[in-house]
Amino acid sequence: MKRIFSGIKPTGILHLGNYLGAISQWIDLQYKVDESIFCVVDMHAITVERPEKLSENILNIAAWYLACGIDLEKSKIFVQSMRPEHAELAWILNCFSTMGELGRMTQYKEKSEGKKDSVSVGLFDYPILMAADILLYGATDVPVGEDQKQHVELARDLAIRFNNQYSGTFIVPEPIIDASVRRIKALDNPAKKMEKSAGSEYNYVALDDSPELIRKKISRAVTDSGSEIVAREDKPAMTNLLNIFSGVSGRDIKSLEADFVGKGYGDFKKALAEEIILFLEPKQAKYKEIIADKDKLRKILTDGAKSVEPIAQKTLAEVKKKIGLGI
Ligand code: TRP
Repeated sequence: MKRIFSGIKPTGILHLGNYLGAISQWIDLQYKVDESIFCVVDMHAITVERPEKLSENILNIAAWYLACGIDLEKSKIFVQSMRPEHAELAWILNCFSTMGELGRMTQYKEKSEGKKDSVSVGLFDYPILMAADILLYGATDVPVGEDQKQHVELARDLAIRFNNQYSGTFIVPEPIIDASVRRIKALDNPAKKMEKSAGSEYNYVALDDSPELIRKKISRAVTDSGSEIVAREDKPAMTNLLNIFSGVSGRDIKSLEADFVGKGYGDFKKALAEEIILFLEPKQAKYKEIIADKDKLRKILTDGAKSVEPIAQKTLAEVKKKIGLGI
């Protein structure tokens, strides 16, 4: 039995990097596994700052899940904070992990750099909450980006550690890091990943950007020196743009390179912008429809939280019983 679990933090808008690097993979996987659960991980969204309009963001992300093709016949979607078991299991797992192992987490080290004593305990503890998300539902496989692999490994370590003491409690999850999944970089800095919380909106193409804005952002995207339109290690900017082109058009990079032999960056960028617009249009239309009926969306999420309740409660009850918590 294969069950996948994954989630995105509602810290802001979604962009092409989220789609090509995560959501598109979820859409495929949901038809290949027995069960899939996709979460809007709102409690993870408050570790660094409390995003404005958090509640609104949560609904937006859920609406995008559906607009992009998460199929409620196949998958469950819900909001993390609507299931109290996450925080409860996280507390218990806290007591099974060490300061040392959390202090070694790359994401923590990066985000706390230069401000170690003033970052929140929540930022430090973030991977434990993520482990709770995964272990609570007995996920066998966790599709994530390369940057989250270490966190899934921690979830594995905790599951194994707990099982060593209290046998057979947790399913030990595997990360799914699909090499074919595109790691989309920032338009204004191909050395970094596309990121919504980055300073400039020229970093990303949001899923709800208008055609004009998309044209403007792509025309301003950083390029490499020279003029060749090829994906190569010494051409990180063009590699990234070709990767995006391939992702939104479904065409392979080689054939795109062949199309643009002898053409300039300007022609390429124009074609890319139109391809992105074409790709996003139907999803944007669907998104608008879904977000227009917030009551219906809230009901989908409430039903989703209810539908995962039995799994979450069963795991948590077993954990508490084995440790001896409660009477
Ligand atoms: N930490 C993940 C990220 O930033 C989001 C996340 C939270 C997650 N809980 C999860 C992903 C559980 C997979 C499974 O991308």
